[in-house]
Amino acid sequence: MSALLQLDHVGRSYPVGGLFARGKMQAVKDLSFTLDAEKPEIFTIVGESGSGKTTTARMILGNEVPTSGAIHFLGKDVTTIRSRSDRLAFMAKVQPIFQNPFEAFNPLTTLDFYLFSTARRFLGLKARSEIDAAADKALQHVGLSLAEVRGRYSHELSGGQLQRIAVARALIPGPKLIVADEPVSMVDASLRMSIVNLFRTLRDDLGVTIIYITHDLSTAYYISDRVIIMHRGEVIEAGEARAVLGHPSQEYSRALRNAVLPPDPVAARRIINERLERRRSGLAEGAG
Ligand SMILES: Nc1ncnc2c1ncn2[C@@H]1O[C@H](COP(=O)(O)OP(=O)(O)OP(=O)(O)O)[C@@H](O)[C@H]1O
Ligand SMILES: [Mg+2]
Repeated sequence: MSALLQLDHVGRSYPVGGLFARGKMQAVKDLSFTLDAEKPEIFTIVGESGSGKTTTARMILGNEVPTSGAIHFLGKDVTTIRSRSDRLAFMAKVQPIFQNPFEAFNPLTTLDFYLFSTARRFLGLKARSEIDAAADKALQHVGLSLAEVRGRYSHELSGGQLQRIAVARALIPGPKLIVADEPVSMVDASLRMSIVNLFRTLRDDLGVTIIYITHDLSTAYYISDRVIIMHRGEVIEAGEARAVLGHPSQEYSRALRNAVLPPDPVAARRIINERLERRRSGLAEGAG
């Protein structure tokens, strides 16, 4: 197997404390996994808040340097990419999708600008017709078209539509890997499935591997091929998604799963009330 992405014992620590009380907090500890270049997949990282998911994403994207271990993309150490042209080539192959689509796009800039400038920058296109064609093709992959998007501003569209445009933009350079850090957490619950389903289409039709970062076990279970569960910077479970998420073997993954509310607001409300009730009766028992 040739590796698309390989993490070997990757760690990242941050200094904490004041000048005289220096300590280190380990955001990511000894993280290893390999993604196969010939077998596109949806590789999911699940974990509670602060477990090291974004730190991992930032290191894979080359925006953060590991303090230990190594990350190789197509055999090349990501930290050694220095020159502008190498950096651009790497960024074309490894594209990010961020959590907040409303922040990703400037409200005063039309959305097509982002698509056009990506086509110019990464594909080197100059002719108007070629730039339009590249933007339209990418938009078609996410169920939109340039005619629908041209001249529109971010406030005119829903979070779900914006996230589709963010995916289209990421597709323009022809990436091999997309790193999506909580891409649906700000999207209306009813639209989440359609966005994550899009990732499946990208995997199957375009051969793009997706690193899908989420808290949400239901979408993770539904679309992932493999999953790792992180807890305080460490992987505590890893394997085939159905096995890990279908039969959680540890207390933690069970707790995570129970923390996800059903999409139906009436059912969600009932569960929240049950939790409150249980907490109240627990408190009362403790007091009595
Ligand atoms: N630049 C930084 N300086 C200091 N500590 C940091 C820095 N970035 C992250 N951390 C710490 O590292 C830990 C992991 O953070 P990270 O953002 O990777 O978690 P996460 O799993 O993405 O959480 P969330 O689900 O809330 O997004 C946290 O304790 C965080 O406070
Ligand atoms: Mg995060």
